[in-house]
Amino acid sequence: MTLLLTDIGELTTNTDDLGTLTNAALVMEDDRIAWIGPSSAAPPADSAVSLEGRAALPGWVDSHTHLVFAGDRTAEFGARMAGAPYRAGGIATTVSATRSASDAELSAVIARHVAEAVSQGTTYVETKTGYGLDVPNELRSARLALSLVDEVTFLGAHLVPSGWDADSYVDLVCGEMLDAVAPYVRWIDVFCETGAFDASQSRAVLAAGAARGLGLRVHGNQLDYGPGVRLAVEMGAASVDHCTYLTKSDVDDLASSETVATLLPACDLSTRQPLPDAQALLNAGATVALASNCNPGSSYTTSMAFCVATAVLQMRMSVQEAVRAATWGGARALRRENEIGILKPGARADVHVLDAPSITHLAYRPGVPLTHSVYRAGELVSS
Ligand code: NIG
Repeated sequence: MTLLLTDIGELTTNTDDLGTLTNAALVMEDDRIAWIGPSSAAPPADSAVSLEGRAALPGWVDSHTHLVFAGDRTAEFGARMAGAPYRAGGIATTVSATRSASDAELSAVIARHVAEAVSQGTTYVETKTGYGLDVPNELRSARLALSLVDEVTFLGAHLVPSGWDADSYVDLVCGEMLDAVAPYVRWIDVFCETGAFDASQSRAVLAAGAARGLGLRVHGNQLDYGPGVRLAVEMGAASVDHCTYLTKSDVDDLASSETVATLLPACDLSTRQPLPDAQALLNAGATVALASNCNPGSSYTTSMAFCVATAVLQMRMSVQEAVRAATWGGARALRRENEIGILKPGARADVHVLDAPSITHLAYRPGVPLTHSVYRAGELVSS
């Protein structure tokens, strides 16, 4: 079956050859893009929809979320807004609520947040374990997530749970826990930060994951300067996420590597941290992604549009750079940049239509829900 979207006022493709087209059209065939070009040259299709001058872009690729959780941390957020600092230890509150929740409750939480994201233009979601922190709960987190999101990351090394010393817990993560979870996940991640795991513990976790064939991701440089970025680059991680505190040498390391700097502006705002200078990373030659980091502690939002608006208004990105980072950049962070986050023949037909004539409105009209309709793998999933 073919579907023609025509009269697209502005089409962002993220390809080098097509770039941004005006008065454009595209054809989806089943779950793939089959053709892109001027509206005036559009081929016949089984059905057609006029977008009446609206802008269209690839669906958001949210490459960093923590959706397997239970419970609520409104009180912690309130205390923070009254001046308390954010601490990694808050994760323990969600661990205990998550362990007490049933499978059905956890699945409902994941599904609810994925649906919320899709209704705002997100068409690809990565999520992490990390609120189980024992073998049965990390295993069920991965298993439940796998049936509800696009890909799953094992974050057993999120925090040292109470009752454990760090080195013994790292042995558990690298041994029995990894054995149990590995069949359900594509990535392994570690929170390399004071109060979580140091550089040598983090290196051990990443090496164990790599030995099992998992790709590597790192939470680093979130709460202070530290070794996370350096370690991620040294180990060939696909991305290092947060990057709130970067030295010049961190920026240089990122620029000379294949490791994507994934920035999480909603988290920085919600934890009252500074916002990183995205333009400095781009100027140096680093690849930047934007993601929501949706989780109940440090960043309780699924809104990629909010991240894009913040990146433009506060992090020196142009709208085009921010949109690219929230689509193609996320795809690159997940090593899927030829398939998603891009609109070209053969790519997955993930199209986000805005109720606006251009992507500039995402920053020009911050906070306004601009999603008109969303196609995921060729299927209309929100309108
Ligand atoms: O990405 N940095 C560590 N993990 C999450 C926070 C989780 C929490 O506070 O519950 C993050 O911000």
